[in-house]
Amino acid sequence: MFTHIMNDNIWGDSMNYQETYRQSIEDPEGFWGNAAAEIDWIEPWQKVLDDTNPPFFRWFSGGVLNTCYNAVDRHVERGRGEQTALIYDSPVTNQQRRYSYRQLQSEVARLAGVLRSLGVEKGERVLIYMPMIPEAVMAMLACARIGAVHSVVFGGFAANELATRIDDAQPRVVLTASCGIEVARVIEYKPLLDRALEIASFEPQHTVIYQRPQHQAALIPGRDFDWVTLCEGASDADCVPIAATDPLYILYTSGTTGLPKGVVRDNGGHAVAMLWSMRHVYGVQPGETYWAASDIGWVVGHSYIVYAPLLNGNTTILYEGKPVGTPDPGAFWRVIAEHEVSVMFTAPTAFRAIKKEDPQGNYLQHYSLPKFRALFLAGERCDPDTLQWAKTLLRVPVIDHWWQTETAWAIAANCLGIEPLPVKLGSPSCAVPGYAIEVLDENGVAAKDGEIGSIMIKLPMPPGCLPTLWNDDDRFVSSYLARHPGYYLSGDAGYRDEDGYIWVMSRIDDIINVAGHRLSTGAIEEVIAAHPDVAECAVIGAADALKGELPVGLMVVKFGVDRNLDEIAQEVVALVRERIGPVCAFKKVVVVARLPKTRSGKILRGTMKKIADGTPYNLPATIDDPGILEEIASALRTIGYAQA
Ligand code: COA
Ligand code: AMP
Repeated sequence: MFTHIMNDNIWGDSMNYQETYRQSIEDPEGFWGNAAAEIDWIEPWQKVLDDTNPPFFRWFSGGVLNTCYNAVDRHVERGRGEQTALIYDSPVTNQQRRYSYRQLQSEVARLAGVLRSLGVEKGERVLIYMPMIPEAVMAMLACARIGAVHSVVFGGFAANELATRIDDAQPRVVLTASCGIEVARVIEYKPLLDRALEIASFEPQHTVIYQRPQHQAALIPGRDFDWVTLCEGASDADCVPIAATDPLYILYTSGTTGLPKGVVRDNGGHAVAMLWSMRHVYGVQPGETYWAASDIGWVVGHSYIVYAPLLNGNTTILYEGKPVGTPDPGAFWRVIAEHEVSVMFTAPTAFRAIKKEDPQGNYLQHYSLPKFRALFLAGERCDPDTLQWAKTLLRVPVIDHWWQTETAWAIAANCLGIEPLPVKLGSPSCAVPGYAIEVLDENGVAAKDGEIGSIMIKLPMPPGCLPTLWNDDDRFVSSYLARHPGYYLSGDAGYRDEDGYIWVMSRIDDIINVAGHRLSTGAIEEVIAAHPDVAECAVIGAADALKGELPVGLMVVKFGVDRNLDEIAQEVVALVRERIGPVCAFKKVVVVARLPKTRSGKILRGTMKKIADGTPYNLPATIDDPGILEEIASALRTIGYAQA
């Protein structure tokens, strides 16, 4: 259904979507070679696309550049020195700070000098476990400046998850802060880090702590250093030449087991893709203010709080707050108005939170948003109600776009910087130039228009997408490339319609999406199963009006356990919070006598999800004992699900 046609090319751009897309697929080398001219190179590339070692493809091989130079220094050299690069807006601490490109350069150069003084060399890893403060952005850029590979870990993860990442990335240095602030709650980071370092087998040499005024962390002499003191004593470090194909960062994301996948990002392809996407997907010109309300711990934060806007010479906003409660559901409108934001990006869940508290949008009346011209949503399926609500309220295009940690930028989107397409509610529009999307059935045969299949991307993927997983080429191939050779498996199922629009319907694996955060139910099950009284368990992603999905556990206790079942359930909830972290939002678990299975012993999670959501389901032909489903429904009713 076409719901809204944007006939005006409000950006005055004369590009045509079909033609641009065609060029990108038919002549990727010409297309991305042109795009790369916007980046400053120290040495030109020898090959735009190096396809000599399939299925591993490399972009701009032979090229040498520095991502930090492109994001910061060159803007100072070319007249943007006094333009604001970064606005820190923190309603939770009641403060705002602005950094011009010149100030950002100076802070980053100094911090890079600190890393150098701690012995960090090109190619070595630095783990960043920090709240949403400017020093976190500076830390990422400081790593890029000296060719260190950063790995940012989201603050809402627990010590155990941090330890897993420390063991995999083996960082020489860990950068952290004394605390994060969740609305009015101070979350101490240092005890979490100390615990992680106890659990981890790998031992980083140093930790550097940024002491926030809200809480002073105790430092361990010889291992822990005070951030500010180190900066005072360090000298500046300059940008070093980095191969385009060298890693810029590792970002861990949920896999189908408890072990997260270390998505690797290169320097050259990433810089080219980031800058191109700012102009062509988001339609943002240098000098404008762009705001991604996410967290630097997620890919959205990496790409659209830090790298893309800075590479494009924009003003970017680092917002330490929530859409509601800091202090009210007008928080987003205040930020857009106060900082004259042109384009904003967040997850649909944030808008659902605002809509829930202020359904009439009354808070918007306090603000005027003259510069605001588009809202982009991604990170989870966008429900048409929320999109329509935002569009009616804000009176700007609201664009759903689809992508994932692995790609770093949009796979399907309505590219406002090329040619705005008619919007179909519920679809993130068409393939973005560079992405050859195909929907395949389980035999690898192209599905017909409208037929659901596995959404795949034909290799090579465009610049910016992951070249591999950290230290694990085999897992990269087995996770993404083995299903149908020649294609990348996105993990999402959906279809393409007769107009070429992509419809992303569900995951084909155990990944669920909780408030835009990607979680593996398998990883939660591993934790529950570790409880001494649990015999077996299953976790499903039940529909939630605010967060999209919420994990719900069903567990069977071991024979002979005669403890209070509520107590066991509470312990399991606490265990998941302790092992994975609060971000999991795992609060609902129920004890059942048995789990429904197929005759071959496969737990019927899909059927249980439908029961929990109160949606119709077919009795699985292979079910062991159909009577069990009523038992499951009745257990789920006790925790507020299966209401039909
Ligand atoms: N450090 C420590 N704890 C954190 C944290 C962090 N950086 N981020 C979240 N948490 C905690 C929260 O305090 C909460 O803990 P609680 O169970 O004790 O209340 C839990 O993790 C879940 O957090 P969150 O998912 O943020 O839920 P919420 O109920 O606090 O807020 C929304 C709900 C919708 C307002 C919130 O999820 C939101 O703003 N989402 C925006 C979307 C987004 O940023 N998506 C990221 C990808 S684009
Ligand atoms: P992440 O890697 O955390 O960004 O999560 C990526 C996953 O979120 C995708 O594989 C999808 O399952 C889901 N997702 C992201 N954006 C969308 C969207 N616009 N529509 C539907 N699902 C989405």
